[in-house]
Amino acid sequence: MTTETRTEVGAMDDQKLSELVETSLTDLGATIHAALVVIGDELGLYTALDEDGPVTSAELAGNTATAERYVREWLRSQAAGGYVTYDPETDRYDLSPEQAYVLATKDSPVFMPGAFQLVASAAKIEPELREAFRTGDGIGWHEHDEDVFHGTERFFGPSYGAYLLDWIAALDGVEETLKSGGRIADVGCGHGAPTLRMAEAYPNSTVVGIDYHEASIAVARERAESAGVADRVSFEVATASEYSGPDYDLVTMFNCFHDMGDPIGVAAHVRETLTDDGTWMLVEPYAADLVEDNFTPFGRLAYAISTVACTPNSLSQAVGYGLGAQAGEERTREVVTEGGLTRFRRAAETPTSLVFEAKP
Ligand SMILES: C[S@@+](CC[C@H](N)C(=O)[O-])C[C@H]1O[C@@H](n2cnc3c(N)ncnc32)[C@H](O)[C@@H]1O
Repeated sequence: MTTETRTEVGAMDDQKLSELVETSLTDLGATIHAALVVIGDELGLYTALDEDGPVTSAELAGNTATAERYVREWLRSQAAGGYVTYDPETDRYDLSPEQAYVLATKDSPVFMPGAFQLVASAAKIEPELREAFRTGDGIGWHEHDEDVFHGTERFFGPSYGAYLLDWIAALDGVEETLKSGGRIADVGCGHGAPTLRMAEAYPNSTVVGIDYHEASIAVARERAESAGVADRVSFEVATASEYSGPDYDLVTMFNCFHDMGDPIGVAAHVRETLTDDGTWMLVEPYAADLVEDNFTPFGRLAYAISTVACTPNSLSQAVGYGLGAQAGEERTREVVTEGGLTRFRRAAETPTSLVFEAKP
């Protein structure tokens, strides 16, 4: 160690240093844990624990047609992370009610394995992303691993199941219109989780799901068939700046407005496709206006996903605005009103979502 380095070490605060090392250890465990959550979800280990627990590793392996030695190691890593409960007296593993709600209850609004599927698969783009940092080029949503699309659907889907109708009820007069029969465009619909939720809730209305990603629209069509709502839902492969209109009573965008390359152009197009008293509902990730106020666990996740997927997608499209997933209310208001909408307000929120209402 050189004298110079010793001086630098001497200037360090030991407490802060050990806290940062502790944080890194937690994050390292969490990083590798993501793949193990996906495995536990895919192989039915969490659901079997929920249904059959408390169980030994051999019983869990037997019940899930998996290899005991792998399952035993997996269970110990899960227990060390607080995802599974272990009883040393009996050498048995189980899920507490809270663990079951987060890991095994697939329609719970806080079901997390879909989010792990999303982040674990999104990280696979790292070599291309590293190069994009150098060149400034974008990476389109369609260039990601297929699990990113499925993970997104499973991450957001349960929260739409829990909250979407409340969000619509918070808009000015929209619920009445949809109950009696209105026209909805769900733009950037992905696999159609919110599209189908609205079609199921408002049988007198028609819903068009729109996305530029052809493969996502193909899955959304299958989902509409399986849900038995194909008669009132149709789909269009188009960008948010060019989809066909006009005369929608409601245009919705769920967790995708910040992904758009030209959000001001998109806002102008939404204005053209709305009726004169129509409504645009934007659901965006929860964010404060000041950067430093987003240094929270959720803000960290959203900034990271934004770096890996949302911002690269925006930079891959015309204009390349790069709004980012933590834009917050005031930045979103500026962009929306610059596109020609005159009224903008926060209509609702959850700890992870901001719901905006914009009108011509
Ligand atoms: C994070 S996903 C959200 C999907 C869906 N709204 C949901 O909440 O489940 C973002 C979606 O925006 C779509 N997208 C990105 N840029 C777009 C554009 N310019 N026009 C239309 N769709 C776009 C992507 O293909 C992707 O399906």
